Amino acid sequence: MSKFFALIPAAGSGSRMGNELPKQYLSLANKPMIYHAVKTLCQMQQIMRVFIVLAPSDNDWLNYDWSEFTEKLIVLNCGGATRADSVLNGLAAAQSELTIDANDWILVHDAARPCLSSSQLEKLIDELSDDEVGGLLATPVADTLKRSNANTRIKHTESRDDLWQAQTPQMFRYALLSKALTNTTNITDDASAVEALGLQPKLVHSDAYNFKVTYPQDLALAELILKQRKTQ
Ligand code: CTP
Ligand code: MG
Repeated sequence: MSKFFALIPAAGSGSRMGNELPKQYLSLANKPMIYHAVKTLCQMQQIMRVFIVLAPSDNDWLNYDWSEFTEKLIVLNCGGATRADSVLNGLAAAQSELTIDANDWILVHDAARPCLSSSQLEKLIDELSDDEVGGLLATPVADTLKRSNANTRIKHTESRDDLWQAQTPQMFRYALLSKALTNTTNITDDASAVEALGLQPKLVHSDAYNFKVTYPQDLALAELILKQRKTQ
């Protein structure tokens, strides 16, 4: 039986957020943003351990109390220059902490997606655990898409047919993901690396709640979603 692990890359600086504090630590529903993804992943029974990849220079993690997650959470201080580097370094470091088999599943989830729900996570695992390749949560593109020129004028309208927005978690087997990330540059998600090997990851239909907090205005929306969920 393949085991399931989660890995949260959290070594970014949040430059588009424009705050000195890295965005994963910004306050959201009375907790640092990263707390919410950690909690959702640690609560999932199938997931054996949750690895979190911090920047070697991180000075913020230890300012918070993580003791409620002691049984599952393992901190790795090996973040790299890009998200892909952080994930790849994390995969190598995770292997030296625990035995992870080539076929075990790794669910890579952005620290900046605090509104992942347990039901979406469960759906991803259910739909992919027998899959040959693996895949990711994603949503079909809803808006009309414009391609611009250098003067912010429309060059043409892109068809949105068959277009999806990639989210996380992205779920691949340990050996495949390590190989894929070793072989690629200039990618912004794990699936792109797997695609570059000629494989076709599966898109698992998600919802807009699992968006990535990127710009300052995204914080208020994430806060609303988390607070509403708490009262349900
Ligand atoms: N990430 C990482 N290591 C990096 C860059 C990003 O672990 N060198 C992580 C971020 O911490 C985040 C996830 O990858 O959890 C998605 O990245 P993104 O939303 O782009 O976060 P940042 O890179 O921090 O933000 P920005 O691009 O605005 O600087
Ligand atoms: Mg980034």
